[in-house]
Amino acid sequence: MSLLITGATGFIGRHLCAQLTREGRTVTAMLRQPGRQLPELRRVVDELGGDGCRIEAISGDLDAPELGLSAALPEMDTIIHLGARFGWRLAPEVARQTNVAGSLAVARLAQSLGCRLVFISGFMLENTQHLEQLGIMGVDPDAVNWQRVYRRAGAYEASKLEAAIRTRAYAKRAGLEFVEVQPATVAGSSKTGALDRAQPLYTLLDNLARGRMAMVPGTPEHWLPLVAVDSLARLIGLAATVERAPAKLLALDPETPNLKNLLAIAASVLGTKAPRHHIPMWCLAALLVIPGLSRLMNTPPETLSFIQSTRFNTADVERFMVEQEVPRTNIAEVVRKTAAFYSGQQSET
Ligand SMILES: NC(=O)c1ccc[n+]([C@@H]2O[C@H](COP(=O)([O-])OP(=O)(O)OC[C@H]3O[C@@H](n4cnc5c(N)ncnc54)[C@H](OP(=O)(O)O)[C@@H]3O)[C@@H](O)[C@H]2O)c1
Repeated sequence: MSLLITGATGFIGRHLCAQLTREGRTVTAMLRQPGRQLPELRRVVDELGGDGCRIEAISGDLDAPELGLSAALPEMDTIIHLGARFGWRLAPEVARQTNVAGSLAVARLAQSLGCRLVFISGFMLENTQHLEQLGIMGVDPDAVNWQRVYRRAGAYEASKLEAAIRTRAYAKRAGLEFVEVQPATVAGSSKTGALDRAQPLYTLLDNLARGRMAMVPGTPEHWLPLVAVDSLARLIGLAATVERAPAKLLALDPETPNLKNLLAIAASVLGTKAPRHHIPMWCLAALLVIPGLSRLMNTPPETLSFIQSTRFNTADVERFMVEQEVPRTNIAEVVRKTAAFYSGQQSET
């Protein structure tokens, strides 16, 4: 089976490469600088228990016209599109270029190769109330006032929503085999707790450890849905390789504790005090627009919407996991391990 991956060097991509090569599969990674990036990717994949020798690379860039591919691609069975500009305070045109135009270019490539596209979006696409508040209703991307969505949601989140809705529409028109995986916020590995510093959960742990979280955002109903990175990699791998994959897979652990309990679990590992009282979301949002406060609290306003009280229907994905014999992870334990990993990194530096 031939697989092409964008975003292979990213946090999720590295675990996915480890998962697929451990299963004996060969993958082609689309990299911006293969000469520099491939040896490092192979090394990290070996470290994660995969087989780095099974990774090949081609040169390509989501920002280049038609991906700037260095060579014509051989036949592919599946393209897994993970590559994205992931960050806060991005300029809308920059986020849009990589995340929306880049995704559409990947979808056109899948169409030209006649292969399956596994598209990585995000769990907020299942929060219909959130989408409606942003003015996203229905499936027609041209019926949405995207400027307003970018203003309200921030460029990263808006570009992910736009990318998913435009790519879905393209896939439908083009008759593409399209599987969408919708990850929650990614937690560390269920085995080691390892998490990249750039990941949002790492920032949350850092804020907690440094005493920047005096109160719990929201109410006791508020939570930050999580998924362990290796469970997510397993799910994406299956979405790419099983003969018939469901059209949508919501990668979210419904057992994720509410935010207050999550912070308490992490605080007990970090040896810090857990916040006990809540601050309403509207109040926190108002504080974060005060000049300088968002940077001082290390909390960009656009991250707040990920903490919410909506509950999600995970029945389909759970059925798929049972069918595929994917074991459940204990997400509270993953939070503990991730916090321990964070602590270990701090004492090293
Ligand atoms: N992490 C989460 O909590 C989370 C939750 C929901 C959805 N997601 C989605 O999951 C995907 C992967 O996330 P991640 O956490 O693994 O992100 P990440 O660690 O930031 O990795 C991003 C990847 O995208 C690649 N990339 C960025 N710009 C590119 C460009 N112009 N051309 C080619 N490749 C480019 C990066 O390559 P370089 O190494 O060359 O920079 C890197 O491999 C993203 O689509 C993200 O939106 C993530």
